[in-house]
Amino acid sequence: MQSIGVGVIGTGFMGKAHALAFAAAASVFDLDRRPHLAVLADADEARARRCAGQWGFSRGIGDWRALIADREVEVVSIATPNHLHEEMALAALAAGKTVYCEKPMATCIEGARRMAERARSCPTLLGYNYLRGPAIGLAKDMIAAGELGEIVAFKGRFAEDYMADPAAPHSWRCVRALAGSGALGDLGSHLLGFAIHLVGDVQAVAGEVSTVIATRPTTAGSAAVENDDQVHAVLRFANGARGVIDVSRVAWGYKNHLAVEITGTKGTIAFDQERLNELRYCKAGQAARTGGFSTILAGPQHPPYGAFSPAAGHQLGYGDLKTAEVGHLLRGLAGHGVIYPDFAIGLVIERIAAAIERASAERRWVDLDEV
Ligand SMILES: NC(=O)c1ccc[n+]([C@@H]2O[C@H](COP(=O)([O-])OP(=O)(O)OC[C@H]3O[C@@H](n4cnc5c(N)ncnc54)[C@H](O)[C@@H]3O)[C@@H](O)[C@H]2O)c1
Repeated sequence: MQSIGVGVIGTGFMGKAHALAFAAAASVFDLDRRPHLAVLADADEARARRCAGQWGFSRGIGDWRALIADREVEVVSIATPNHLHEEMALAALAAGKTVYCEKPMATCIEGARRMAERARSCPTLLGYNYLRGPAIGLAKDMIAAGELGEIVAFKGRFAEDYMADPAAPHSWRCVRALAGSGALGDLGSHLLGFAIHLVGDVQAVAGEVSTVIATRPTTAGSAAVENDDQVHAVLRFANGARGVIDVSRVAWGYKNHLAVEITGTKGTIAFDQERLNELRYCKAGQAARTGGFSTILAGPQHPPYGAFSPAAGHQLGYGDLKTAEVGHLLRGLAGHGVIYPDFAIGLVIERIAAAIERASAERRWVDLDEV
């Protein structure tokens, strides 16, 4: 089996998730080329070396530009804070590499536009890993087959509590220049990814972004939070459906509550990432018999579940979704399927997010055409 050289930039939460996924992908999926973990880069070179040894990379280095220039590296994974995505992606694209970049794409809409423009020459994929869940694939199939009838409503909530405690320290996530928007880009981007994947194009938005905890502790005292902690927005879809989203990084009790409900004229489906192996379904007319929703438990008949396990109900986890994302990328590079969501789709998500921010600032509905 031939190999394909991979370089990962970043050794934090996502750097490790990418590394584990590349290490597992060839065992799980039928790939033409086996990922070769060539180079791991981190600003902290000692950490890069240590993690490279632990995770199976040939070498760990401190300079991400050297990773991109390395002839062994064909796929560049970007798992660094948001403000670095654009510079790293543009450098990798200029070198003719495939780019697999974490979301959100960039810290501003102009940056996302530049990335999408330059990505026309090379394959790209964004880290919208929750789209890979077996329940989301099933939801997409049910909608496409007309099982829900005409879609009339989308309701999405993404709540976490990682910044609910006012004592949670100030970090790059609170700084506009380093993160871009706050909860909107970090969490809301996933919800918007679900909205366009499952329901379709968004035409107009209204909404409000707000900061709940104005300052957070630093080693020197405290610093201002420069972006949003929560978002409440209304979406109008091109197909006539209406939507509402509610995003928070300060919602006590929630860890990864990425929940969507889609209502059509023939039924409703409901999903919560905290129970990612389940899809709740109510078929019109059956509620009287079932008492409402029934729960479909993911099994091998719901891709990509079967690639991991032959037995239903044994459950996939977050890391498996990342492995499925890498499998999707590598199969796409080999000509099996269209790589989604690429930078062009990512730009659509960024435009919706930018429109929500503008709607909030100007207190009005904003058409997507304006952004
Ligand atoms: N798809 C998802 O589910 C998901 C989940 C969490 C985070 N993310 C995204 O992943 C990205 C990284 O987030 P994280 O939680 O892993 O952050 P993190 O803080 O845990 O890790 C960031 C890493 O980048 C490294 N880094 C910083 N500057 C660098 C530089 N100049 N050169 C090389 N390395 C550098 C840091 O040393 C650190 O190892 C963000 O864009 C975030 O939005 C996505």
